[in-house]
Amino acid sequence: MLNCKGKKILITGGTGSLGTALTKRLLDLGAETIRILSRNESKQIVMESEISNDKVRFLIGDVRDLPRLEKALQGIDIVFHAAALKHVNIIEYNPFEAIKTNILGTQNIIDSCLKENIETVVGVGTDKAVSPLSTYGATKLLMEKLFTSAANYIDENRYRTKFLALRYGNVLGSSGSVIPKFIQQIKSKEKITITNLNMTRFSMTMDEALDFILESTNIGKGSEVFIPKLKSYSIDVLKESLFELLENTGEQIISSRPGEKMHETLVNSDETKYVWELDNKYMLFNPSKTENEIKNNYPNIKKVEFSDAYSSNTVEKISKNELKEIILKSGLLENNERV
Ligand SMILES: NC(=O)c1ccc[n+]([C@@H]2O[C@H](COP(=O)([O-])OP(=O)(O)OC[C@H]3O[C@@H](n4cnc5c(N)ncnc54)[C@H](OP(=O)(O)O)[C@@H]3O)[C@@H](O)[C@H]2O)c1
Repeated sequence: MLNCKGKKILITGGTGSLGTALTKRLLDLGAETIRILSRNESKQIVMESEISNDKVRFLIGDVRDLPRLEKALQGIDIVFHAAALKHVNIIEYNPFEAIKTNILGTQNIIDSCLKENIETVVGVGTDKAVSPLSTYGATKLLMEKLFTSAANYIDENRYRTKFLALRYGNVLGSSGSVIPKFIQQIKSKEKITITNLNMTRFSMTMDEALDFILESTNIGKGSEVFIPKLKSYSIDVLKESLFELLENTGEQIISSRPGEKMHETLVNSDETKYVWELDNKYMLFNPSKTENEIKNNYPNIKKVEFSDAYSSNTVEKISKNELKEIILKSGLLENNERV
């Protein structure tokens, strides 16, 4: 696990679902200072009252604003870049706003981190970047590309900054995700709204996401895309699980939303030849990396032979009982205000 003792860390988008959970974990791991950078002061006030700790500093700032980033990054060791516009339908309606935040904002992070000689920068990506159907996915694909190619700047005499990217699916219970939405509908005695019962989604709890992020940060050498090994569940099994845990309020089939996919894909069939595995994660390398370079950097790494894409419909499925257990442990049934 990442050694955070004495580290000064900045989280862009630190007031979001991921940023808040990551801040708590980093404090437990002994981080010296955590700077949260985001735009909305009210969200910062809420987070400050939830995490009352003088190691956490709140900075109002926008990743679109390069001079602000340069100031915020002074003295920082590690950056987690989680700030993003991420709501698919809002982005379809306002595509250039997502380009400004998710793409130009990412380039600002890269430029300012190089200038401030930051040790490690981690870009938080998503499965929606794989063969993107939505503008959101396309912006996150470019975020990933900017991060992996920023590693080209590494030069012993000038830049030491390691840039690594992460790619994972929906975190159970994060803002805008399906489980809190269904829970809220059931609690309001409404039918749950489903586009297709055969849809599948990868399963990842916030704790699993944090372990994955911190382990990847610890071992990353720069330019890799880290991808977790996950199981999945179908929307049908999710529906049954929630009806058994709460109440059966019925279902209503609605038309699919823009950018919505039947299954989540973490590695598409064209990328499979560049994927390797190390313990509980996969790593996607730039096609220009030779086998020797990869093996020298990671002595225990193994080549993966996928027969097809790595997708939520091809991996092992979680049973209904396992899913019920995961939902119960997540605390989402009691606390689902973030929808
Ligand atoms: N949630 C998931 O299941 C999931 C899965 C895979 C990947 N991801 C990725 O993980 C990251 C975090 O997701 P999340 O679920 O925590 O999202 P979230 O809850 O919507 O949080 C987004 C954060 O970004 C900040 N932000 C937005 N625009 C900004 C800007 N221009 N400058 C600075 N801060 C800005 C927001 O605060 P303000 O609005 O106050 O600025 C907020 O703190 C995103 O990059 C997302 O793509 C999420």
